Formats: sequence, structure tokens, C-alpha cells
Amino acid sequence: MTDNNRVVIFDTTLRDGEQSPGATMSHAEKLEIAQMLDEMGVDVIEAGFPIASEGDFAAVSEIARQAKNAQICGLARAQIPDIDRCWEAVKHAKNPRIHTFIGTSPLHRAIPNLDQDQMAERIHQTVTHARNLCDNVQWSPMDATRTEHDYLCRVVEIAIKAGATTINIPDTVGYTAPRESADLIRMLLERVPGADQIIFATHCHNDLGMATANALAAVEAGARQIECTINGLGERAGNTALEEVVMAMRVRHDIMPFDTGIDTTKIIGISRRVAAVSGFPVQFNKAIVGKNAFLHESGIHQDGVLKNVETFEIMRPADIGLNETNIAMGKHSGRAALRAKLADLGYELGDNQLKDVFVRFKALADRKKEVYDEDIVALMQDSAANT
Ligand code: KIV
Ligand code: ZN
Repeated sequence: MTDNNRVVIFDTTLRDGEQSPGATMSHAEKLEIAQMLDEMGVDVIEAGFPIASEGDFAAVSEIARQAKNAQICGLARAQIPDIDRCWEAVKHAKNPRIHTFIGTSPLHRAIPNLDQDQMAERIHQTVTHARNLCDNVQWSPMDATRTEHDYLCRVVEIAIKAGATTINIPDTVGYTAPRESADLIRMLLERVPGADQIIFATHCHNDLGMATANALAAVEAGARQIECTINGLGERAGNTALEEVVMAMRVRHDIMPFDTGIDTTKIIGISRRVAAVSGFPVQFNKAIVGKNAFLHESGIHQDGVLKNVETFEIMRPADIGLNETNIAMGKHSGRAALRAKLADLGYELGDNQLKDVFVRFKALADRKKEVYDEDIVALMQDSAANT
């Protein structure tokens, strides 16, 4: 249904995110991350792939029991034992969801060696089975963006008729581009009978660096669920980053008037925790949550933000829960920034003294990549000792 502007945030950090080679999390870590996701207002948590291992089953079951608000979803292939196992794990949730999928593109159809009719029949059977267990069923045609349009419309219609309530359109290999991503959702909404009765989801991978743009384009075309992960964690180049889509719709609400239920002040906390437990550090210049995302080093920028923060910031650090300084002291810093930094550290200097400290600060900054507060305090102590 696309009659409102509320976008469902479906987080798959614990499923697609954990599928990144090397990102395995322990049982306790998964429970902790799920609790943080629930508290920040994520609508649906994809907690794992219950048939994949005993550990995944246990984590999904426990998360289902502990969640207070979020729907808890498990992933299942288009096979009856997978779907049954998934239901066994998620059924403890207040609001459980079964997510079942099958690869529908020619390349993916060749793997189980099913022709179009045989696959259509499999989809009908498995979605019907899932819907008999649970009234909240999501179905995904994996590799949808490389599936023939006629066949995609046909199988989406079958899944809707069999009872799917959310149809997810995965860009499994990060192949699409924003205009095509939007056109695909528009085409499905126009051509598939019953499409106005379900929610379309967008699930993008970042192989060409377009996952965020592709997800937002799909929403503009009528999708109302974004599948994403914290820090963009995910297979290969990752998935759409939750923090990016949520902040983009908030900061540019004027042109993307869509709302989510996310408490954005919880973003930095969960980003740091996911980085720590997954062992995947966040790149310094990563949008929203990178170490440098709100830092200014050049004199012109520092002078600008000290006078009016909006000159070089389109959102406040506090919006994502960051209460740290936005001024990085280095060789590009100017006198105004040094004066402000000294004031922060409790030093009020006259013009002459500032001039002297500034010369010595520049000499130090030429030798060091970053000048920390302790370095500046040492400069001041040195200066006091020499006068
Ligand atoms: O990328 C993908 O196609 C997936 C599916 C299982 C939804 O993660
Ligand atoms: Zn995926």
C-alpha cells in the first residue's frame, strides 16, 4: 500500500550483515544489537536464517522472545523444511514475520534447474505454506533487478495471491542504478494486480556504490520498506546503510517527504557497537558515522562553523547522538579555531600571546598529523615556563 509517507525500516544487520565474510557475531552480541535496534525504533529486525545453523536458530528464537516493539523476521529458502524451521524460531515474537525467497533471474533459475512454470509452482506452494503458519509473510524474488520484467510481474502476482503481505525487490548484486530502480517499482505497481494491497520493499547492495541512491529512488517510486544494515555491513561491498537513508530522508525532507520511526540520536551508539562486535571498522570518511563526518580542519571551514555552524554542516552531530567537538586541530587550522580551542581548554589569551602560541602550534602541526588537546595544553605549559 502506498497511500502514506511512512517508510518501514527493515534492518538486516544480523542476517545479511552477518553474512559478510569475517563479521560473525556471538549469541550475546546478537542479542545486544537486536535490543539496540528495537530501542532505536527499527520496525522489522531480520534476526537470522534459522535453518542455517543451531546458533542462528537459537539467536532468532531468543531475539523473538526479547523484542518489545519490532517485528521479528527470519529468512527461509523456498523449501518447506526451511519455512517450518523459520516459523519455529520466530513464532515466539509478539509480531513474527517469515521471509522466504528464491532466485528468479535466468542465472538463478538455472541453479535449481527449474523452468519458469516449475518455479512459479514452487513459489505458489511455499508462500501458501508460509501464510498458513503466519499472517505476516515477506517474499523476495532474489536477483529481481536481472529478472525478465514479464516473468517478474508473473511471480510477484503469484506471491501476492498466495498471501505475501510484503514483496521485496532485491538488487542482489548491486547492479541497478537509481532511475532503473524507480522504474522497476513503478512498473510493478502499474502492472501487477493486487500490488496496491501489499508493501513493496527495496533491498540494495552496494557493489557500484549506489545502494543508498537506489533505495531512495525506489521509495520515491512507491516502495515503502527499505532493507538496510548498520554501517552498510553486508556481503561484498555491503547493503544500503540504515544511517544514510534515514538521515537523507530527514535532512532532505523538503524533497523526500518520507518519515521513519527511527530515533536518530541512537545512530552513533549502535554504529560503534556494530563496528566493535563485527570487527568491521567504519571508514573515516563514511557518510553520517565516519570519524571525520562532522570534523572540520581547514581554517576557512573552522572559521565558518565557529561563526555559523550551518556554513559547513547540513546536520548537527547531536542529531545522530554525537556530542563531540567538530573542530579537528591540524596544520590547516586557523587562528580563530585555536582561540576557540584554547577557550574550551580554559585559556583566555591576549592577541600577542595568541600570536606566539599560534606560531608554535603551526610548527607542531607540520610535524604531527593531528594535534590533540594534550598537545595544546603542553604548548601552553611550555609557553608559561618560558615567560
Ligand atoms: O540480496 C538478496 O537478494 C538477499 C535476499 C535473500 C533477499 O539478501
Ligand atoms: Zn542481500
